Amino acid sequence: MTPLLSVEGLTIDLPGRQPGLVEDVTFQVREGHCTALIGESGCGKTLTSMAILGLLPAAVRVSAGAVWFDGVDLLACTPRQLRRIRGGPVGMVFQEPMSSLNPTMTVGDQIAEARRLHLGERRKTALARARELLERVGIPNAARRIGSYPHEMSGGMQQRVMIAAAIACEPKLIIADEPTTALDVTIQAEILALLRDLQRDLDLAVLLVTHDLGVVADFCDDVVVMYAGHIAERTTVDGLFYQPGHPYSSALLAAVPQVGQARSRLTVIPGRVPSAGGFPAGCRFEPRCAHAEPPCREPQPDAPLGDGLTRCGRVASGELTLQGALRG
Ligand SMILES: Nc1ncnc2c1ncn2[C@@H]1O[C@H](COP(=O)(O)OP(=O)(O)OP(=O)(O)O)[C@@H](O)[C@H]1O
Ligand SMILES: [Mg+2]
Repeated sequence: MTPLLSVEGLTIDLPGRQPGLVEDVTFQVREGHCTALIGESGCGKTLTSMAILGLLPAAVRVSAGAVWFDGVDLLACTPRQLRRIRGGPVGMVFQEPMSSLNPTMTVGDQIAEARRLHLGERRKTALARARELLERVGIPNAARRIGSYPHEMSGGMQQRVMIAAAIACEPKLIIADEPTTALDVTIQAEILALLRDLQRDLDLAVLLVTHDLGVVADFCDDVVVMYAGHIAERTTVDGLFYQPGHPYSSALLAAVPQVGQARSRLTVIPGRVPSAGGFPAGCRFEPRCAHAEPPCREPQPDAPLGDGLTRCGRVASGELTLQGALRG
């Protein structure tokens, strides 16, 4: 089956500066499935997810690769074509709802506007649909709330509006970049449960950027582990938890205090992620890796591992087997 979204060899750099901030990143999102993009802060998750829809900051650019969505080469689209895809067949949910909601428009009008623009609906029909969508995402008293402005709502309610807007035009794919990080822990769980219900009910594909391995375990099918602008490992959720294919993945698993209490940020691996100017010449994780050997100081190419890949030569050759957080 062809994947709904296919990112192939994506490379993102600051013009004139080597190495790239993100290099040779390849992964897929299958129709109706969820792919998690994980890794510590600064590994390139947001740049990767923003590049897909042409939303990179002005200072950086895609210098190589391709992004296919439903048969369309997104990197070849004009800004106008991309605007028709964003908020239409691809919905987006960001960490800070207020950064994407329009403070001068009522939430009902914002959702209705999207349906008018993308689906050509009349205002009255679109507003009626907006009310249904607000109900669907669990906003109490939706008939009244439709006339509220975003600042009149709590952070959790704003994020629900953002999700209503993301699903307003019957998307096939949702890209969500840490959609709950800015919220209280109890609200986080509610928003994630909502996203999961919607994913199942609407058969959505989701690309989910997260720090949270508990969310990966509950929500996702496939996992892309990024480290310092590279893919360290690409695997399935079971693969990650039962038999990780890169020492960085197993270090992330070990950094979680206990299975079942996995909702913490991944900050417990000694040392820190190097930035683009300071990448080691060999394996980028080698200076922090508990399993490093002298050959790891040579560049490590991608190698196939099961249905996925690893960038660890020792795992690829079978010399190193890592312990998962769970046993088969
Ligand atoms: N506009 C920019 N100009 C220069 N460097 C940038 C820019 N945006 C991001 N970077 C750098 O690119 C790298 C990847 O950033 P990115 O935001 O994708 O990380 P991330 O994995 O999403 O991290 P976090 O978990 O903190 O959100 C970082 O080292 C960051 O400093
Ligand atoms: Mg980010």
